[in-house]
Amino acid sequence: MRKTLFSYCAVLCAVAAGCTVVTAQAPTQNPVSLTIQADKPVHAVSPTLYGLMTEEINYAFDGGLYAEMVRNRTFRGDWSGLLDWYLVEKGDAAAKIAPDHGTGPSTALPGSLKIEVTRASAQSQAGVLNTGWWGMALRPETTYKGSLYAKAGAEIGPVTVSLVNDKTGKAVASAQVTGVGTDWKQFPFTLKTGAVEPSTTNHLEITVGKTGTLWLQLVSLFPPTYHDQPNGRRTDLMEKMAAMHPQFLRFPGGNYLEGNRIADWYDWKKTIGPLVDRPTHPSPWGYQSSDGMGLLEFLGWCEDLKMQPVLAVYAGYSLGGQHVEPGEKLEPYVQSALDELEYVTGSTSTKWGAVRTQNGHPEPFKLTYVEIGNEEWFDKSGSYDARYTQFSKAIKAKYPDLQLIATAPVKSAKPDVLDEHFYVRATENFHDAAHYDQPAAGSPAPQWGNGRYDKSDRNGPKIFVGEWATREGSPTPNMGAALGDAAWMTGLERNSDLVIMAAYAPLLVNVNPGGMQWATDLIGYDAQTSYGSPAYYAQVLFGSYLGDQVLTSKANGVGEKFFYSITGSAAKKKLYLKLVNASSEPQAVDVAIDGAKTTGKAKLVALNAADTQETNSINDPRRIVPVESALAVSGGHVKHTMPKYSIEVVEIELQ
Ligand code: AHR
Repeated sequence: MRKTLFSYCAVLCAVAAGCTVVTAQAPTQNPVSLTIQADKPVHAVSPTLYGLMTEEINYAFDGGLYAEMVRNRTFRGDWSGLLDWYLVEKGDAAAKIAPDHGTGPSTALPGSLKIEVTRASAQSQAGVLNTGWWGMALRPETTYKGSLYAKAGAEIGPVTVSLVNDKTGKAVASAQVTGVGTDWKQFPFTLKTGAVEPSTTNHLEITVGKTGTLWLQLVSLFPPTYHDQPNGRRTDLMEKMAAMHPQFLRFPGGNYLEGNRIADWYDWKKTIGPLVDRPTHPSPWGYQSSDGMGLLEFLGWCEDLKMQPVLAVYAGYSLGGQHVEPGEKLEPYVQSALDELEYVTGSTSTKWGAVRTQNGHPEPFKLTYVEIGNEEWFDKSGSYDARYTQFSKAIKAKYPDLQLIATAPVKSAKPDVLDEHFYVRATENFHDAAHYDQPAAGSPAPQWGNGRYDKSDRNGPKIFVGEWATREGSPTPNMGAALGDAAWMTGLERNSDLVIMAAYAPLLVNVNPGGMQWATDLIGYDAQTSYGSPAYYAQVLFGSYLGDQVLTSKANGVGEKFFYSITGSAAKKKLYLKLVNASSEPQAVDVAIDGAKTTGKAKLVALNAADTQETNSINDPRRIVPVESALAVSGGHVKHTMPKYSIEVVEIELQ
């Protein structure tokens, strides 16, 4: 076996990091030779090429990014009764619990949980417990901030709120809420752990030591969040997304925008303001959304990660097949979209800009892209053309600079951008990513290489690949999927004069049993920890090493499983080579750099695996991770052998 500088360094790094690395074997296939014309750009790379797409699916927000620890904090039930809450009767205490639809703290939350305690004492308390999102993650010496709304029939004494270890039954943090009276009131509390072992096997208890009646609503508890924001997001997941260098966030969906029925559409006005004024609503993915992640929280997420919002507005079609007739019936939805745009972008002196200010964000947000609906090709009524046009006319009249995105082809208006979705197998992505070279007149069409977007009309709408993924592996994609993704992204970069944005979907999955509604999701987690799939690391590599120009290049010896993209940045004096060897054999590559002088230094960042089924998981999170090493540039050439099943970035320094 020939040990290249790469394989030697990579092995050292990988051993130190405890992850898998495949050393380069002797290549058996034809070498690839690549010539780069560093001084000849083909076109600019879209500065917004890579971003995120999100929606409430797979417990992405509730039980995921949204750091709320209490599940079903608004005491909803179904045919089987109250969900996620259980009666507590300690010692000889006696009590019963039931939903009370007649009293609640707000119009949005008109009901509550009624707890009738018929026997209790300081030692024998009664109340309720909540099991969280497959447990509650606790860490040592950590402060958890909570609040609850409560009222009592008469003086009920202190209410004890505790975090309790499931295994020992012992409280690891406790607080007392006093002054609960006969009117609804919000009570904040703080729970601080001591020297506990980190674990998810914990729950929350709310108990009293006196007889009487207690009503509860909106019980909430948060750990420390990203940037310590109240009502905030999980730090580990935010950091994972930040590492992808996303340029935009498409929200709120996806199917989540549409709902199963028209009544379930994403009515943004019900997702803003104090939590007690948010009624919650059903997600089409089979559970109720708390709407703690409301419109302003999506925008805050954009601010945190310096992404621009790509705001989707409901366009009158819901998944069950219902649609709103264009014309008068659609007008309220068009007006809602106009109000939403004013909420996002309006000054404090506008009606909805003033509401945003009242909600805590006086600064307007910068908005360029607005998407009209989602996957409207599903609407078999043929009404999208007219619905799109109605939205487009109204929005462009007030906001002529906004770029509008259609989600199915339309004829009556010319959309600025068209959103296309691709959920495919790796083989299909290899086929789509392979260069399409226009055959010379009279010669047969090439047998391999669909070259998606290589031959697309450059005078039509720009393209937004608003959802895409290679769907292999569950709950998160394996290395084979990552190879399909990486190949696909080389095609996106090559065509980024046309494809201005692209986002992998779905982004997040709670890996607990019942947490997943859609197999193959980029980042997995439980209540305590999270991990990136091999496909996630492919996204990190492609988003982190991207120039601002696609450079002229020529390749020889490229087989059906080799893909590449060459971009450069004159300002940063860097060339970025993305190389994908999706075959089961090593691949020798000789890269010649013309039109620029290098410093002789290059960095290699490599992601590879022994086979396509290898993957990361919640219990083995770092099996496949990128490994950095140095490469030499000699005489204007980088010579290197890629291991089988590898995705690599070579960053070359220019003088
Ligand atoms: O990403 C999962 C779903 O796939 C989205 O909600 C929908 O837009 C698409 O069909």
